[in-house]
Amino acid sequence: MDFSEVTGLLKADLSRLEKAIRENYKSDIPLIPGIGDYLVNGGGKRMRPLLLLLSSKLFGAETDDRTIRHCCVVEYIHSATLLHDDVVDATTLRRGHETVNSKWGSDASILIGDYFLSRAILLLANDCEPKIIQAIAQTARTLVEGGILEFTNARKLDVTEELILDVMYRKTASIISVSCRLGALLTHADEESEELLTSFGDDFGMAFQLMDDVMDYDGTEELLGKPAGTDLKEGHVTLPLLHLYQNCDRRLRKEIEQFIKRPDLSQKELEYIIERLREAKSIEYTLDKARAYMDRAKKTVRNAKIQSPKYLEALLAVADYIIERHTAAKPCA
Ligand code: FPP
Ligand code: MG
Repeated sequence: MDFSEVTGLLKADLSRLEKAIRENYKSDIPLIPGIGDYLVNGGGKRMRPLLLLLSSKLFGAETDDRTIRHCCVVEYIHSATLLHDDVVDATTLRRGHETVNSKWGSDASILIGDYFLSRAILLLANDCEPKIIQAIAQTARTLVEGGILEFTNARKLDVTEELILDVMYRKTASIISVSCRLGALLTHADEESEELLTSFGDDFGMAFQLMDDVMDYDGTEELLGKPAGTDLKEGHVTLPLLHLYQNCDRRLRKEIEQFIKRPDLSQKELEYIIERLREAKSIEYTLDKARAYMDRAKKTVRNAKIQSPKYLEALLAVADYIIERHTAAKPCA
């Protein structure tokens, strides 16, 4: 099964989801649906709802209104994090489109993010299970901690790999993990399966962010929807750059220390660093880590008490897609 077959398998659910996403941000304040439509029409793979849907189907569940509501909750929270993140990073391009902060201003981006969060809370208020409410509330807290931790360590090279992985867990893996866990919680799967789905999501999320960090240096603008090297310009010390910094000579170390301070790096300077990352096998090092996380995720989910093997196959296909997206686009040097 490949990724397009997975989305084909979920076609009816995904179109129901798109409708619900649009319905639920309706407001009589025109700017809200205005920006909402701009974002929804701008694409996105709906990765978190997709994982939630597949996880619930693993346990034999039919998609009902409650499942779709929780898909909207995770997607809205995710959208809020991106709207806020783009303000923090002063990003101007996302998924090939101008960001909301660039088009409407930072105030609009922050407030529309807040609106999405408020809609997520309201949708969640329809749920009576404290475990579900606690899981999502805890994730919202972890996401904000991730954003703050990343922001306070921006442009710093004296960070550890452990800290970088911690930021990745909080800002990315936490919401991916809770999306998978929700599949088990909503279907009242046994506790062991709930734990396995959570671990699957943790590792999937780490692999997902590692691939994102690799592709930021090694992907094409067409694939990324933004120029390569954005992380370096925005001052994010991700794993490829840290690996290079910790394994290079004094001269290059000094250059990196200068580069990380500068949001105005030229294309030539970015290409110079990308070349050094390839030479030092920093891309390969990060890719290997991503593959290891994803392999463990795949092994873990196979142990859950699955009722529908077709959806296990689909979940594994999504895991492969995340890793292969890079390799398919550009074989690693
Ligand atoms: C994008 O990562 C950023 C995040 C996944 C989350 C950052 C979290 C916050 C800004 C806190 C806000 C939290 C809430 C709940 C509103 P990235 O920068 O690696 O990806 P990108 O390159 O696509 O921007
Ligand atoms: Mg960002």
